[in-house]
Amino acid sequence: MGSVHIPSPAEIEHAAALLRAGKLVAFPTETVYGLGANALDVDAVARIFAAKGRPGSSPIIVHVSDMDMVRRVAAEWPATAQSLAQKFWPGALTLVLKKQSAIPALVTAGLDSVGVRMPSHPVARALIEAAGLPIGAPSANRFTQLSPTTAEHVRQGLGDRVDYILDGGPCTVGIESTVLSLAGEVPILLRPGGISRSQIEAVIGPVSQQTTASAEAHPSPGMHPRHYSPRTKLLLVRNGQVPDSGMGAYLQLHQPPKRQVRDIVLMPSDAAEYAVWLYGTLHQLDSQNYDWIAVEAPDNSPAWEAVCDRLQRAASDMK
Ligand code: TXA
Ligand code: MG
Repeated sequence: MGSVHIPSPAEIEHAAALLRAGKLVAFPTETVYGLGANALDVDAVARIFAAKGRPGSSPIIVHVSDMDMVRRVAAEWPATAQSLAQKFWPGALTLVLKKQSAIPALVTAGLDSVGVRMPSHPVARALIEAAGLPIGAPSANRFTQLSPTTAEHVRQGLGDRVDYILDGGPCTVGIESTVLSLAGEVPILLRPGGISRSQIEAVIGPVSQQTTASAEAHPSPGMHPRHYSPRTKLLLVRNGQVPDSGMGAYLQLHQPPKRQVRDIVLMPSDAAEYAVWLYGTLHQLDSQNYDWIAVEAPDNSPAWEAVCDRLQRAASDMK
């Protein structure tokens, strides 16, 4: 998956200075690469939307490096947030909380809440700390395309739309953070991700599922059906049932394909391991000009919730 690269302190300082100057910096996190800008600077945040081609109705996660910064971003810190942060921060969990007024409406798509995440990746932490600013960052891909898990994916997807790319090697979680709202009466899981629902429920008790109605009231890019897609048609299949015509690749979990295919990728049978490899594998196959990519659908058991969510969004029948 590529070699680990540690940016020098000078590179980190250069990237931090660009962020302070309102520029865009792509940086590694443990989940996926983020496209970062000063979350307090509305012009800088507007550049994120322009670079991604992302509609303004999609709120952006604000990344912090310490609890002082959390207080600059979130106006409320409920006991559930404290318990979850103690257990899962820094890490792949985004908490949606009532926002401070200093956070521009563009960051939160006009909502009075803000998504806050303290990433664990050492490069992300060093960058945010050096910038001394909360950093707004969606995944560093064009809107609706696959999220990047290497610096090379960012280069291919965004090119010179980003002012600087910090290369911290491949991401170790591989899919986006779990997004949990603590801004309402009850905790709501807005997007399954790197921290599983059962891990969260073990700390704060049952969490609700987002309903379609609330999805419309609170626009979530992670909730767009057409999201995380490779350009190649992606099919979710069972029992090795790959298409009869055309040339393609097969992501195998347990069952071999029923007929010969150009490429078979044996995927890990552990959900977290599968997540690590998923986007990288799809990026790689997407560059092969196949007619289709057939993915053996995992059983939708709790451990596979996040992977199944991403596969369903990437599947072509959703478009
Ligand atoms: O792992 C990740 O979360 C990555 C890395 C870079 O941190 N970021 C990421 O950002 O995936 P993005 O923009 O691709 O997805 C942001 C998710 C969306 O599902 C969005 O709806 C939700 O966070 N979100 C952010 N702020 C929100 C808010 N105030 N209310 C509801 N959902 C929010
Ligand atoms: Mg994204």
